[in-house]
Amino acid sequence: MYTKEMLESMEKVAAAREKNAALEPRRMTAEEKDTLLKTYHPDYKQSEFTLLSVGPNKGDKVPLELAALLQGNSRVDPAHTDLSHPDYDTDVLIIGGGGAGAAAAIEADNAGAKVMIVTKLRMGDANTMMAEGGIQAADKPNDSPAIHYLDAFGGGHFAAKPELLRTLVTEAPEAIQWLNELGVEFDKAPDGTMVTTHGGGTSRKRMHAAKDYSGAEIMRTLRDEVLNRQIPIVDFTAAIELILDDKGNAAGAVLLNMETHEILIARAKTVIIATGGAGRLHYQGFPTSNHYGATADGLVLAYRAGAKLLYPDTLQYHPTGTAYPEQIFGALVTEKVRSVGAMLINADGEAFMHPLETRDVSAASIIRECSDHGKGVTTPGGGKGVWLDTPMIELKNGEGTIEARIPAMLRMFAKYGIDIRKEPILVYPTLHYQNGGIDIHADCESGVENLFVAGEAVGGIHGRNRLMGNSLLDIIVFGRNAGRNAAVKTQKVCTGALSLSHVEAFAAELSAAGIHTDLVSPKLLPDYRRQQN
Ligand code: FUM
Repeated sequence: MYTKEMLESMEKVAAAREKNAALEPRRMTAEEKDTLLKTYHPDYKQSEFTLLSVGPNKGDKVPLELAALLQGNSRVDPAHTDLSHPDYDTDVLIIGGGGAGAAAAIEADNAGAKVMIVTKLRMGDANTMMAEGGIQAADKPNDSPAIHYLDAFGGGHFAAKPELLRTLVTEAPEAIQWLNELGVEFDKAPDGTMVTTHGGGTSRKRMHAAKDYSGAEIMRTLRDEVLNRQIPIVDFTAAIELILDDKGNAAGAVLLNMETHEILIARAKTVIIATGGAGRLHYQGFPTSNHYGATADGLVLAYRAGAKLLYPDTLQYHPTGTAYPEQIFGALVTEKVRSVGAMLINADGEAFMHPLETRDVSAASIIRECSDHGKGVTTPGGGKGVWLDTPMIELKNGEGTIEARIPAMLRMFAKYGIDIRKEPILVYPTLHYQNGGIDIHADCESGVENLFVAGEAVGGIHGRNRLMGNSLLDIIVFGRNAGRNAAVKTQKVCTGALSLSHVEAFAAELSAAGIHTDLVSPKLLPDYRRQQN
């Protein structure tokens, strides 16, 4: 299965393993990182971006694929959509059935509101389920939320909205306790204390994990809680447009039954967008570690309704996506593999970087190694990658470490005949996370009154690069806050007549800007059919 070139390179990696394991590669300087990012990180490839011509971010730079969707046509024809007899009437409408949506639903329910979740797939089919490495919280004696803040603020290039990041880090320890009490099976020492590790860019060991199934374990627990509370879930039903009222405040959504294509109307006093990320837009042709439904739907809905986006031009490429075997091309190889001891090694067996630089720096460094440095390994399909030397983990920590700490990785590669205890893994960056999203205030409300946002659809919590484990954290912290605040707000809301006039106004803006396209949005699902030429 491996090519001759791959086998020869693997021999070099094995021969250098003991020497490499003893190394402590130096960290890059700030200047080195800056130059590296500007030269190799996909966010700096100007030809892959354009300026928006309409809407609240008119003039701002966004990826080409996102611009097409933000400036696409609505799936709804306002003139032929009857809003007068809603199919659903609720206090809080939550769009999205991942971790943020579930956390929001639980807290809105606690606050006494009538809640409903709509999700275009099934409850729990979301990026949360696919998260592996862990969740950060500064809850050890040598750590503090202030240190957590500094790590995340620096890692995000000092661009995070301070009030959002402050909320994230100060509420983190309580978020872990909440999850623990709900039943998440965190890794613990025999005395019951949580086992914590480093992630890229952390100065303290604050990554809490459930082996390398952390997201699945968290999502399992949250979904059980939502089901136990009998919170209504409308699955296989996508929100395709927000409904505003005659005051311009969020007041529900137009829904599409994905199976029958029936259009349904949901009226709500407040709406929470928790639709997750955008990996399935495959920016710049990258593969993705994301869930099938990650198509930036929430950004499109909110934008048409008048909400501003923050940092829509910044994406996260996870450094270690699977480059080989091709059947799992782009699948996540958790950063935890590096935090338990594996190093990144080039085709010549050289450790070319510190394994726990921040993600944008690590991804850019791998891209440089595979391009200008000419030290990537060619895959049978013609792609490139570098080695993640997993056998080094047991060399450093003893036999059995891989099975105990990263069993999901062991299993994922074993399916293809690769024993990661004996052979390294070939990796290349994969599209993993949208750093930007909908701009919110500290209470999770967007610029559109009664429209709240939580999870990956939010922009600005992490600045221009997110550290590992801060996303599982933000879905809990901001999911809970959005649920609670949206529920409390319902007590003051008096919804006016439902309207889609913003959809008509946006269409008129597109036309005035000379944008005429066949593309409809939100995208809802990726299309992997072969294109006929
Ligand atoms: O590498 C990982 O396990 C990913 C974690 C994250 O994106 O936070």
